[in-house]
Amino acid sequence: MGLIQNLLNVFSFLLILTLSFASSRATQIEILNNCTYTVWAAANPGGGKQLKQGETYTLSNITSSGRIWGRTKCAFDREGHGKCESGDCEGRLHCQANGRAPNTLAQYSLNQRNNDVFYISVVEGFNIPMEFSVSPSSPPSSSSNCSNAISECTADVNGACPMELRDPAGCNNPCTVFRNNQFCCNSGMSICKPTSYSEFFKDLCQDAFTFPYDFDQRNTCPTGTNYNVVFCPSQSTKTGMIIVYWGQSGNEGSLADTCATGNYGVVNIAFLNTFGSGQTPSLNLAGHCDPTTNGCTRLSNDVKACQSKGIKVMLSIGGGVGSYNLSSAEDARVIADYLWNNFLGGQSDSRPLGDAVLDGIDFDIVGGTTRYWDELAKALIAYSQQMNKVYLCASPQCPFPDAWLGSALNTGLFDFLSVQFYNNPPCEYSGNAQDLKSYWSKWMSIPAGQIFLGLPASPEASGSGYIPPDVLSSKVLPSIKRSPKYGGVTLWSKQYDNGYSSAIKPNV
Ligand SMILES: *[C@@H]1O[C@H](CO)[C@@H](O)[C@H](O)[C@H]1NC(C)=O
Ligand SMILES: *[C@@H]1O[C@H](CO)[C@@H](O)[C@H](O)[C@H]1NC(C)=O
Ligand SMILES: *[C@@H]1O[C@H](CO)[C@@H](O)[C@H](O)[C@H]1NC(C)=O
Ligand SMILES: *[C@@H]1O[C@H](CO)[C@@H](O)[C@H](O)[C@H]1NC(C)=O
Repeated sequence: MGLIQNLLNVFSFLLILTLSFASSRATQIEILNNCTYTVWAAANPGGGKQLKQGETYTLSNITSSGRIWGRTKCAFDREGHGKCESGDCEGRLHCQANGRAPNTLAQYSLNQRNNDVFYISVVEGFNIPMEFSVSPSSPPSSSSNCSNAISECTADVNGACPMELRDPAGCNNPCTVFRNNQFCCNSGMSICKPTSYSEFFKDLCQDAFTFPYDFDQRNTCPTGTNYNVVFCPSQSTKTGMIIVYWGQSGNEGSLADTCATGNYGVVNIAFLNTFGSGQTPSLNLAGHCDPTTNGCTRLSNDVKACQSKGIKVMLSIGGGVGSYNLSSAEDARVIADYLWNNFLGGQSDSRPLGDAVLDGIDFDIVGGTTRYWDELAKALIAYSQQMNKVYLCASPQCPFPDAWLGSALNTGLFDFLSVQFYNNPPCEYSGNAQDLKSYWSKWMSIPAGQIFLGLPASPEASGSGYIPPDVLSSKVLPSIKRSPKYGGVTLWSKQYDNGYSSAIKPNV
């Protein structure tokens, strides 16, 4: 059989790598059946076990490569002989061979140059939805060093399956069905290309391996990481919110109008762009108002109108154009006092936005120096503990760790992080979301409350990184939303948001 031959080729290649770098580090993989029906878990090497909904099967001491899959509608006798409708391994409960296609596969190859490779594959077709992810029980340094912490195929592939691939056991692969070179890639890696069938699978499952040499789709983690495999993982039902920047264009509508759209959960007023090193702090709100003549105090009513709708209003400090830096820890405390007294719960005769008490401060630091931002965060939080809560938000760039805020973010004091996945080619969306997802999983290691995907609200809003709303909703958010720290989407900015937030809101 071409497919088997081909997989053998791939695996002997992986095996050689495995053997040459094998170490004794043990990895554990826990398999959970979350389907409402019974699944007979199968592993080669490993064996197999019947799992009712909620039951688990743990594979310990794994050191090489192998595959895990699920079997359905099985019947075995006392000796473990019988058969399954899908995924059957030569009629045994304890598999010593691979399963019969179609079956969704979790494949791994450990200890390759101190890295593990793992992914969900639909190269042999699809029977049940599966997810392969980094286990929270892994050593702490693992997840931040994984290229991507989750691979999954959870769409209704059987429902969408092309007629010619349909099978009582699931949705079959074109090699098994048509047995030709093009689909089986018998002629080797160099001429093995995606086909309309692999594109069908890819469209439903972006993270999965979809044709025999689809090597872009592999996830890697440092050796020693533990993993979870879940049959029928839950689809995220989480609802995030949208944060928007407001203040850099006089034509974007008032702050009150912005809140009245009902699309946003947080508005960042941008920017306080001069402060620190003895400078008189100053606000720049473009054409909205002139702070030098006290012209922005009238925004107080707008701030209150937003807050009465449950919308948080933050002051964003920094920005792309300005003059700011902190010269010392003492300077950081001076700025914290200034912010507290002039924008937050303190008192001053010269509050630029009037008496409204803002909900917190957003650090949008892309200039100046990298030092003392952690001191500023600590000094602001000290106020928060005394009086009303001060929310801290930061907007780092997606390359990890952030050049400016790296150490401040590790304080664990930030409630929200809006990571800017634009104007940053190494980690932004570029026709596919591989890099974006990979960096997103690195950001999950930051000890922050909620993490937001920072995006431009239109193609004109940034030099690069724009994601059309339908692509964001169907191809990016479903997997990003599975992260426990997912908070939603942050948009730059109200000025450019001509329908984008409305289009994505149902899926955020
Ligand atoms: C794993 O390996 C260790 C050490 O070789 C051994 O003591 C233990 O019993 C093994 N566990 C399983 C589940 O095979
Ligand atoms: C993993 O990442 C941490 C920082 O996030 C780093 O200190 C450590 O050296 C990395 N470990 C490996 C094996 O790359
Ligand atoms: C299993 O399913 C339940 C209910 O759908 C869900 O709440 C839970 O998060 C799922 N677990 C996993 C690991 O997907
Ligand atoms: C910090 O800002 C002040 C005022 O603009 C400037 O004079 C100083 O050179 C800056 N320091 C650094 C290290 O950039």
